Amino acid sequence: MNQTKRIGILTSGGDCPGLNAILYAALKYAGILGWSIYGIANGTDGFIDIALDRSAPEDMRIDEHSFDIPGQKGMGVLLFLSGSVLGCRGKKERKNQEDELISQGYRKMNLDALIAIGGDGSLEIISQLAQRGNWNLVAIPKTIDNDVPGTERVVGFDTAVEVVSDALYNLTFTAASHDRIMLVQVMGRNAGHLALNAGIAGGADVILIPELVPIINDRVVRETCRKIAHIRQHKRKFALIVVAEGVQGNSKDEPSVEHLKRQLQQYSHSQDGILAPEFYGLGEEMEIRVTILGHLTRSNRPTASDRLLATAFGIKAIEVIAREQDNNFQRMIILQNGQVSDRPLVEVMRELKTAKVYSACASPVDSNGFVAHVARSLDIYLGD
Ligand code: F6P
Repeated sequence: MNQTKRIGILTSGGDCPGLNAILYAALKYAGILGWSIYGIANGTDGFIDIALDRSAPEDMRIDEHSFDIPGQKGMGVLLFLSGSVLGCRGKKERKNQEDELISQGYRKMNLDALIAIGGDGSLEIISQLAQRGNWNLVAIPKTIDNDVPGTERVVGFDTAVEVVSDALYNLTFTAASHDRIMLVQVMGRNAGHLALNAGIAGGADVILIPELVPIINDRVVRETCRKIAHIRQHKRKFALIVVAEGVQGNSKDEPSVEHLKRQLQQYSHSQDGILAPEFYGLGEEMEIRVTILGHLTRSNRPTASDRLLATAFGIKAIEVIAREQDNNFQRMIILQNGQVSDRPLVEVMRELKTAKVYSACASPVDSNGFVAHVARSLDIYLGD
């Protein structure tokens, strides 16, 4: 374990809470081992800057004190800080020529290994670069969407669930005061994990996720109205409806939650007066308000649980690099049966590709899984 190494580290794809906590752990542990860490700025774009001599490799060296708050007696904030101090995103689309520059930059850094923190999309790209260039790579999965295959959880998800469920809780008070129906659109790209988990934890009455409701159709509108009417007749006048952004509305230019609002209003107005008893309580007096949580979901201080996962993943990444004897290894850190371990990245990428043949999402919600079962048992309408 005590052979000195040069390790690069980068964050890629969208930011999420816990990225800096991974960095914190990697820097601290590498420091103890006497290794050098180099922070690559802005994902793989940082390698292009190196290739083009826009940044000098030795200037990129960082340690556990590089991000201390000046004047605060060396107080470190990485463990708690959201976003990424390294910067996240390179360009989404690349030209081959840029791939070549990235490889040149990597070679110029003369690294023993690279730790790449990313989601399914960015890890796929980095995995290809690593295979082509024979890089030693350890991937750490992160995303608020929790849609990376091969791991039970990724860094950032727990915090996002906390943020969204808190938002739902907070909305309940204004909803109750005005007897309103609150429609809340939640991030998650093509996956419904965030909406489903946060919806349950936040007390939602209806949760629509792309795995179960790919598109808002007449049946979903009618049954959502039926659910609202039932609540208004038997329980309370307000209701909370969570819609994952991956659920399709009418057009790409309009948030699906706005489409759902219109549809619910149209349906309930059209039925007003002539309604069957099961739809009583809808109609003109039913007020609907929309909240789109958007990027607020991504920027909170990471929860303790995310900080724990992030630091455990960071330590494991260093351990994997110390363990590997051969050159040309590409591994991914995972959580499996509650344990942090690692597996070949190529295997995870194969699973990802196979999954994407059948679904827009590489690791969708299991519609018959435990979380969906909990929702149904709580009488939450899931659209199926
Ligand atoms: O993948 C994370 C995520 O926050 C998704 O939930 C969301 O659809 C997307 O990124 C937003 O991307 P951007 O930050 O580029 O707008």
